[in-house]
Amino acid sequence: MTRVLVLNGPNLGRLGVREPDVYGALSLADLREQVAGWSDELGVGAEVRQTDDEAELVHWLYEAVDSGAHVVLNPAAFTHYSYSLRDAAAMVTKAGLVLVEVHISNPMAREEFRHTSVIGPVATGTVAGFGFDSYRLALLAVVAKA
Ligand code: DQA
Repeated sequence: MTRVLVLNGPNLGRLGVREPDVYGALSLADLREQVAGWSDELGVGAEVRQTDDEAELVHWLYEAVDSGAHVVLNPAAFTHYSYSLRDAAAMVTKAGLVLVEVHISNPMAREEFRHTSVIGPVATGTVAGFGFDSYRLALLAVVAKA
């Protein structure tokens, strides 16, 4: 079975209470439930994780490489400046695995500092701006590409 790690960066544990006008009223637990439903439909094994810790996220990307799992990654604010995360993400795609960068909001339609993604250039592709559906579309992209 195709395995997918659905990894989420800092502050995404506060979904539902953090800027609901931007990120919606649903929580990380709701996202887990939705991803479980979509992955059942698509026949993939997806595991949703969240951390505020850059090192932990980097280590999860090593785990993806070592175990041959594809990745759906919402790097959150790390998107805009984390070269360590970028380097680890590059290891995933260089290993021939799919890595889809996802965003709930559309960073390109927001503040200028969000217009830069250091992850995008090493990702297989990016889905942004569709709320939690960004994750569903990313899972579809993994299935199409894997
Ligand atoms: C985000 C967009 C980022 O700019 C922001 O720092 C986040 C969430 C999104 O999913 O829309 O934390 O990645």
